[in-house]
Formats: sequence, C-alpha cells, structure tokens
Amino acid sequence: MNILVTGGAGFIGSNHVRYLLRNSDDRVVNLDLLTYAGNLENLAGCEDDPRYRFVRGDIRDRELLRTLLQQEAIDAVVHFAAESHVDRSVEGPEVFITTNVLGTEILLEESRAAGVRKFVMVSTDEVYGSLGSEGHFTENSPLAPNSPYAASKAAADLLCRAFFKTFGFPVVVTRCSNNYGPYQFPEKLIPLMIANALEGKPLPVYGDGLQVRDWLFVEDHCRAVDLALRHGRPGGVYNVGGGNEMRNLDLVHLLLDKLGLGRELITFVADRPGHDRRYAIDASHITAELGWAPSVDFATGMARTVDWYLAERAWWEKIRTGRYVEYYDLMYGPGRRHAGGV
Ligand code: NAD
Ligand code: DAU
Repeated sequence: MNILVTGGAGFIGSNHVRYLLRNSDDRVVNLDLLTYAGNLENLAGCEDDPRYRFVRGDIRDRELLRTLLQQEAIDAVVHFAAESHVDRSVEGPEVFITTNVLGTEILLEESRAAGVRKFVMVSTDEVYGSLGSEGHFTENSPLAPNSPYAASKAAADLLCRAFFKTFGFPVVVTRCSNNYGPYQFPEKLIPLMIANALEGKPLPVYGDGLQVRDWLFVEDHCRAVDLALRHGRPGGVYNVGGGNEMRNLDLVHLLLDKLGLGRELITFVADRPGHDRRYAIDASHITAELGWAPSVDFATGMARTVDWYLAERAWWEKIRTGRYVEYYDLMYGPGRRHAGGV
C-alpha cells in the first residue's frame, strides 16, 4: 500500500511513521506543515529508507493534496495533523478551527475524489467531555467537548461520520486517551514536568492536581491506529485507552521519584478554564472486534519515557528556546493565565 500520513513530524505521527516502516512493507508519504510542533529530528534515520518520503505542506492546501494523492497513488490516509494543545486553544481558537475542522474537511474531500480506499481519522477521547468519579467513555457516550480544541476535534470526527453516511467513504475513527512516550513536545504534562524538574524550574500543577487522565504508551496507540487501518470496519468508531487512570499530582510525584528529586519544585497554579476533571476509556469494543489490547504496562512505559528524556536532553533543550520561551512566558509568566503561587 501507499499510505499518506498527515502530521507525521509530530509526537504520535513520527512514532507512527517509524511503526509503519518497522512493521510493514508499505510506502509512507509524510505530509506535515512543520508548525511549532513538527520536528524533522523526530524522524532521524527514516529518510534513509527508500519507502519513505517527506513533503512539507498544509492539509488545507487543496491543490497540493490533489497532486500528491494522484502522484503517489495513495491507497490509504492516516490523519494525525492537528493543532493538539488544549491550553493553546484557550489562548487562540481560530487556528484550531482552520486546521482541525477545515483541514480535515478538505482532506476528506480530496481523498474521496482520489479514490482513497481507507481513511483513518485520529480523533480523541476529549470529544466526550468530562466524567465524574464513576464510569467510562464508550463509543455511544454523547459528544460534549469542553475546550475549543476538543470542539474542533469533535467537528472533524463528525465530518468523518458524515462522509461515511452521505458518500459511503470508508472512514474509520479512533478516539484515544492521553499518550506518553518519546518525542512528545514539552508543552504537554509529562515532558514539561521532566524538563522543568531537570532544570530546577517550578512544576506548574493546575488547580488541585486531582484531575484524572488515562495514560497509554504511544506505540500501543500506533498499533491500534494500524489495526483500524487494515481491519477496521468502514464507518466504525473505536475507543483506545490504557486502562491506566492516574491523578496528575500522583503522576508528578512518580516522575520526581524516578528522577531522584524532591517535591519542593511543585507549584500549584491557576486552573485551566473548562478543565475536564476525568477521562477514562472503555476499550472493550476494539478488543472484541480487532483484538487490540495495550502491550506496554505503565511502569515499563514510564521507565522508557523518562530514560528517553534523560538521554535526549539536547532534543528538548533545543526546542525550549526562542518561540517556546515566548509561549512559556505567555502561559506561566508573572501575571499570566497559569502564574504560580495560587
Ligand atoms: P503534535 O502537536 O505533536 O503534532 C501535530 C503535527 O501536525 C505536527 O507535526 C504539526 O506540524 C502538524 N500540523 C499541524 N497543522 C498542520 C497542517 N495544517 N497541515 C499539515 N500538518 C500540520 O500532536 P500529537 O500529540 O502527536 O497528536 C497527533 C494527533 O493525535 C492529533 O490529531 C491529536 O488530536 C490526536 N490525539 C493526541 C493524543 C495525545 O495524547 N497527544 C491523544 C489522542 C489523540
Ligand atoms: O485525552 C487525549 C488528549 O490528551 C489529546 O487529545 C490532546 O491532544 C493531548 O494534549 C492531551 O490533552 P490533555 O489536556 O489531557 O493533556 P496535557 O498534557 O495538556 O494535560 C494533562 C493534564 O495535566 C491536564 O489535566 C492538565 C494538567 N496540566 C497540564 C500542563 C501542561 C498541568 O497540571 N500543568 C501543566 O503545565
């Protein structure tokens, strides 16, 4: 197969490109705009593989998509490209709508016109909104997104449903919980806490730190997406989750213990507006239908992740300069949204 991966220079996308090159004979064309989150260093070594090609471009660029889909005789699309950070969507929602909603719609239209045979939409569990202390999200839970990011993903997710219902276009949707692992951009909780701790900077915990996330090692997500591509039912929706609920504060404690550091850097800061309290996934449908289950337990995955950030310090140090410093100041600087000491 010739597979177009969008957003393949980001965190999950780059792990997925590596997964495909390692585990299949397929050709992989990676289309990525290289926004602040895209980084070709995430793909070091891949360019030596004759089955791999990188194209810098925008999923909103219809002409580019038309040419690329035809030129590369694309059989299948795996769609990761998105603006992905909730906090950024609070500061500036517009690009979340143009990229995540309009970009997905243009990609769907052009893929359909080009005769693509399978399209996987990498959606998220955030489309379901927030849970109380009990229960899990199933594929039948109502969509109730709470952040501009989540709302934009819900719109894209539902456009996929509409393309299947209206045109019979073979789309499969996956809705996964929080991923962790190598190459995650250090704006997200785990890499941000590791990098700050190693540099002796405050660890900004939002609100009371008792929000719960369900963590999954990134390679397990990639395997689920690949199963959805090869065996997922057209029109199907599959929840993907680690069965691994943890409170943010407990996670930060665990990271500090692993790094051999004390807790004095923890700083409780103003909460994220609209902050979802708890996510938890019921993944029994993908287990029953596609035989998927997580293969990396949390202890092993966390050890691999912490080791990777320790070994690849140059990778995240380079990112945490220039534009990143401006971003950090906008979010966490004195008088800003997540200013410390609350
Ligand atoms: P990321 O921010 O690390 O990567 C996003 C990639 O998309 C970047 O390489 C960026 O350059 C690219 N991109 C952005 N706009 C683009 C555009 N207009 N055209 C082409 N490329 C563009 O994100 P991630 O954490 O790897 O998430 C990937 C996907 O998985 C997203 O769709 C996200 O919603 C979804 N998801 C993420 C998680 C998670 O825990 N990170 C969980 C479930 C689902
Ligand atoms: O559930 C899937 C989603 O997981 C994906 O769709 C998103 O793309 C991905 O970013 C992630 O969203 P979260 O908002 O859950 O991830 P984040 O790492 O930003 O935050 C995790 C939790 O940690 C959340 O409760 C907010 C909290 N947090 C985060 C940051 C960055 C803090 O307490 N302090 C912080 O500085």
